[in-house]
Amino acid sequence: MCGIVGYIGTKPAQQLLVEGLKRLEYRGYDSAGIAVIGQSGLSITRAVGRVQSLEDKLEETGSLEGTLGLAHTRWATHGTVTQANAHPQRDDTSGICLVHNGIIENYAAIKTYLEEKGHQFSSETDTEVLAMLIGELYEGDLESAVQAALREVTGAYAIVVVCEQEPDVMIAARKGSPLMIGIGSGEYIVASDPSAIVAHTTQAFPLENYNVVKLTRDHIRTSTIENIEVTPRIMQLEMDLGQIELGDYDHFMLKEIFEQPSALSNTFRGRLDKKSGKVVLGGLDEFAKQLVKAKRVIITAQGTAMHAAMIGEYLLEDLAKVPTECEYASEFRYRNPIIEDGTMVVAVSQSGETADTLAALEEAKDRGALSLGVINVVGSTIARETDAGVYLRVGPEIGVASTKAFTGQVAVLTLISLFMARRRFMSAEESSALLKQLELVPDKIERVLETADTIRTLTEKYVHRENWLFLGRGYNYPTAMEGALKLKEISYIHAEGMPAAEMKHGPIALIDKGMPVVFIANRGAQYEKVMINIEEVRSRGGHVIAVATEGDTQIKSIAEDVMYVPDVPEALSPMVTVIPLQLMAYHAAVLRGKDVDKPRNLAKSVTVE
Ligand code: M6R
Repeated sequence: MCGIVGYIGTKPAQQLLVEGLKRLEYRGYDSAGIAVIGQSGLSITRAVGRVQSLEDKLEETGSLEGTLGLAHTRWATHGTVTQANAHPQRDDTSGICLVHNGIIENYAAIKTYLEEKGHQFSSETDTEVLAMLIGELYEGDLESAVQAALREVTGAYAIVVVCEQEPDVMIAARKGSPLMIGIGSGEYIVASDPSAIVAHTTQAFPLENYNVVKLTRDHIRTSTIENIEVTPRIMQLEMDLGQIELGDYDHFMLKEIFEQPSALSNTFRGRLDKKSGKVVLGGLDEFAKQLVKAKRVIITAQGTAMHAAMIGEYLLEDLAKVPTECEYASEFRYRNPIIEDGTMVVAVSQSGETADTLAALEEAKDRGALSLGVINVVGSTIARETDAGVYLRVGPEIGVASTKAFTGQVAVLTLISLFMARRRFMSAEESSALLKQLELVPDKIERVLETADTIRTLTEKYVHRENWLFLGRGYNYPTAMEGALKLKEISYIHAEGMPAAEMKHGPIALIDKGMPVVFIANRGAQYEKVMINIEEVRSRGGHVIAVATEGDTQIKSIAEDVMYVPDVPEALSPMVTVIPLQLMAYHAAVLRGKDVDKPRNLAKSVTVE
């Protein structure tokens, strides 16, 4: 949510910053801006719209010269999408200029105080308030002024700050919102995530909460906002550029859908001991005893990760026989939840930065729960805050609509369930058999991907319809929810996902002639019940599109269209049944001419409440 990038070094900053913004654009894309300090002082250019609009403007107005600068791509929180509200924002006295990701919660009170002191504001943003506050406190030392200002604010921030009076200094700080400091030779690149750094260096460290870093071309100093010096933990970034480039694909979403076979093979690599039936998860070893004795599991997440969590609930109860419940993190954190002895909380998040999920995790930890993370981004805040965890290993996900992270999350929750199951009640034979099936999942996904053209043709028939239902039962009820979310978030078609039987309790009133109703109807314990639900839809004129198991001929006679998937044990089936739904959503969005990778109003990681 908002991408920020800063550069201090010896190279011309503008090109490097704009390239960085392009990599971060998936985090927010309603306006963009850049500031560079050069011989002629501080120059700022801002534009409404995508980074391309900023580039066009820079072309018109001329390049910004200098080797130190900062840039921002925005997802609006305070103030409408206008040039005045775009970042960078600056103060009115001291030449302070900053970019910000997050929300300053007490900005109104600070603004009143600053207005009383005579400051004039020209935007509606909380960011300008912070710039003014730093300017107000500035007495010739930018680092101290930033520290002092941050001691006054509440809320979340990742900021990069420069000052015209100190043209060789850059300050960055964070609380809540992520910020990575890349260490090059004679240069530093500060960015919201590693994708804007790896082209320049692989040495980096994530800035910790309440930490401030002062960068000059040959020196780095990290301290707290109380000015206590700290030593950062430098790490090696493992991302390579190919992973974050489109290659031959039209969209990142399509690339990521097609990456799922290799991504899941990576998730499973070295973790399935088929002989003993044991799952090998180094990140959990230390806590194995507590996991085995766990009395209750709460899985918390948002969005697609929540749908994976819901499947995790089925898996943990079914396989590991541990009482499990799922809860939206945004609700959990404010609900005064009861955490008894033996409760384990699992936070599921692709980015590891989702504000609600992070806050729910903190709440659970404060109440004494053991915390686990099921996270994709290595070194992200949630990954660092949890007691233990298992990484997805599916590689960077750039498309705003989550696809490979979903199957990765379900895969890891399956691994955790089997890790616990085998150490609790499950026999080696039963576990081994499931592990063998699990290993086959990537190939089965590959087979579904081979039907992508057929799915596109099928989608063409229904893409003009504005209301869709997605129905499933058991393990595939969350898959139905995920199918609906994918469709609505990128094609703006209204879609609802729900348990198939729930339809009779109200939503059936929506079904009219030709309404597309997608059933997840693969072979499983509730197959016959799903058939009954299909008949109920058909008799009201709905058009049934079924996801069914290869070889199921019965379904052909009652569904208008069928998308076949290979046979998979029911507990593992969502990783396969979701694939046609992802492809359908993708094609629907493309056919409707929507911007698949940057859907309106959305941002990849939601780092504000
Ligand atoms: O990074 P996270 O997994 O925590 O993100 C959670 C949701 O914001 C995310 O899944 C969102 O719903 C996606 N747009 C879904 O495609």
